[in-house]
Amino acid sequence: MADNPARTAVTGFYEAHPISEMQIMDKMRADGVDLDALTQDVLQNYDQDHYGGTAANDALAHAAGLDRDVRALDICCGLGGPARYMAAKYGCRVTGVDLTSSRVVGARNLSRMTALDGLVDFTVGDALDLPFADQSFDAAYSQEAFGHIPRKDRLISEAVRVVRSGGRIAFTDILATATTTTETRARLSDGMAFNELVTMDEYTTRLESGGCELVGAEDLGAEWREILLKRLKMYRSLEGQTVGRFGQEHFDAWDSIYAFFVDQFRTGELSGGRIVAQKR
Ligand SMILES: C[S@@+](CC[C@H](N)C(=O)[O-])C[C@H]1O[C@@H](n2cnc3c(N)ncnc32)[C@H](O)[C@@H]1O
Repeated sequence: MADNPARTAVTGFYEAHPISEMQIMDKMRADGVDLDALTQDVLQNYDQDHYGGTAANDALAHAAGLDRDVRALDICCGLGGPARYMAAKYGCRVTGVDLTSSRVVGARNLSRMTALDGLVDFTVGDALDLPFADQSFDAAYSQEAFGHIPRKDRLISEAVRVVRSGGRIAFTDILATATTTTETRARLSDGMAFNELVTMDEYTTRLESGGCELVGAEDLGAEWREILLKRLKMYRSLEGQTVGRFGQEHFDAWDSIYAFFVDQFRTGELSGGRIVAQKR
C-alpha cells in the first residue's frame, strides 16, 4: 500500500491519538480490572472509539441485520471494540479492516485477551482498496471514520463491491452541512485528518447511484452535540497521560482542534448521521 498525503495524515493522527491500546490497558489497571481474566463485558466499557458507546453498536447491528448467520465487515475497525461487541452479542463473524497498523495490532491483542479471536479477525488495509473478493460479506458497517477518507464514490463502490446482493451497508459519520465553510474544512483536515466531509444528501445520492436502495438516513447532530461535550471533558481528563506520551505541545494542539470540532456541532457547521442502504 503506497503512502499518499491523506493516508499519512490519518495514520499520523491515530498513532498519536489519546485513545490507544496502551491507554485502554492503563485505564483498566487503574480501575482495578484483573487483566488476566478480562471479559468482553468489562472491556466494552473502554474500547469503543465512536459516539454513543455500545447503544450505537446496537442501532447499527439492527440496521445491518447482524445475527449468527452473518459474516460482517467492519470498515475502519480501529481497536476492534465494535467488532468484538457485535460478535459477542449477535454471534456474527466479523472481519475488521483499518489503515493504521497499530490499531490492528491492538485489535488483535485485545481480542486474544477476551478469547474472542475465534469470531473476529483484523487486517491492515485501505477502505478505498479493500483486500477482499467481491461479495465476501453479508453486511458491512462503519462508525465515525468515513470523514477521513477522500473519494467517496470509490469508498462507497468498494463497500458495495464486497457485500453480497441483498446485504446491508450501515454506517454513522460526521457530516458537513449547507453552512460548512472552506475554512472549517481546511482546519479539520489539517488538525484531525478529516480529508473529505460530505453532507447526508451526498452520501445517499452516492449509495443510490452505486447500486443500493436507501433504507434509512437519520440525523444525529443534536444527540452527538451532547456526547461530544462529554468526550472533550474525557480527553481533557487524559491530559497527564497524553502529555506523558506525546508532550505538552501535542496535547495543546489536540485540545484546541478538538474544542473547535465540538463547537461546530453548536454552530451547525457539522452534524452526524446514521445511513443504512441495501445492495440491490
Ligand atoms: C474514530 S476511529 C473509529 C474506530 C472504530 N470504528 C470504533 O468505533 O471504535 C476511525 C478509524 O478509521 C481508520 N481509517 C481512517 N481512514 C481509513 C482508510 N482509508 N481505510 C481504513 N481505515 C481508515 C483510522 O485508522 C481509525 O482507526
